[in-house]
Amino acid sequence: MIFSNYANLIDLSDYPVEWWEKVIKLGSEIAEDPGAYSKACEGKIMATLFYEPSTRTQMSFQTAMLRLGGTIIGFDNPATSSVAKGENLKDTTKIVSGYADIMVMRNPMEGSAKAAAISADCPIINAGDGRHLHPTQTLTDLLTLYKEKGRLDNLTVGLCGDLLNGRTVHSLCKALSAFKGNSFVMISTPGLRMPVYVKDILNAAGCKFTEVDSIEECISTLDVLYMTRIQRERFDSEEEYLAQKDVYCLDKRKIAMASKDMIVMHPLPRVDEIAMEVDEDPRAGYYKQAKYGMYVRMALIITMLGEKDRRMPLLEGHTYPTVCCTNPRCITNTEHYLPKSFRGTNDTLECEYCDERVLKTF
Ligand code: NCD
Repeated sequence: MIFSNYANLIDLSDYPVEWWEKVIKLGSEIAEDPGAYSKACEGKIMATLFYEPSTRTQMSFQTAMLRLGGTIIGFDNPATSSVAKGENLKDTTKIVSGYADIMVMRNPMEGSAKAAAISADCPIINAGDGRHLHPTQTLTDLLTLYKEKGRLDNLTVGLCGDLLNGRTVHSLCKALSAFKGNSFVMISTPGLRMPVYVKDILNAAGCKFTEVDSIEECISTLDVLYMTRIQRERFDSEEEYLAQKDVYCLDKRKIAMASKDMIVMHPLPRVDEIAMEVDEDPRAGYYKQAKYGMYVRMALIITMLGEKDRRMPLLEGHTYPTVCCTNPRCITNTEHYLPKSFRGTNDTLECEYCDERVLKTF
């Protein structure tokens, strides 16, 4: 069993639902009067290490810290840091976490935030690890639902686009399955369906879900339509991406079939899955959603700095000398010094970094 020395946010399920609700409630209060929190983090430094492109997540975190009276350091282009000289993740994050009070990291490898947390000297926030998870986008989405729909339960949520590679929908499904009465309509091509491990979580929570091919066949039943872009950077080849792009586009004709109370959400960036004509529709919620992201991140920073010494379990499973994670995007396959760790005892194990299912063969 490996514990962190600090509070981290790797996955929302690291915390009980009451904790998420506390952060969302604080985010909602901050949104009403942000100026009242302008000294909440005076003297504190936040590091943002972005190994992948970002506009909203990085800038909303940075603005959040600045609005709280703190300061920021970091990089958004690893090519200008020692990563370009071949420095490993452990050394970069160990050093920077010694400079900062809290560290936000986005990295293309799945399980990277957990890997960083193993040796970090300050709390780590996962700002997206490959196609795996994106818990702070989910806090953003939950605050948006709380403010705009007035509830986090009994919602029929349509998820559309790249459900295989989109980390935002993985985290969101996991989180909404913790509230009663939520159900999901997963709209994707057969090639981009939701990963099995997410569907298993929904089944275990007793959440209903269906998988469909088109927006038109379900939009009239939805409280929320969560659009996502096809994640070009996660495809093995340009041909595979081109075969999937342009399949879904929410336009005026389709939104006309929705209820007047439905909200359209999108983590952004949008490519072409929402026609710009929809921006004028009162149901378009994505610009507001991006702003809620800043308020909820202010709430998250205050909360995590307030309980920074909370020790949390990171690896609770077992190491098997002959078992490696079969996911080529798992951080354990590039940072070889990491202790491997798997949950489960039967023939199928689950990697504790990236959740990939691995067959135990001896
Ligand atoms: C998302 C991400 O990075 O996963 N963007 C964001 O954080 N707002 C969605 C995406 O890139 O498609």
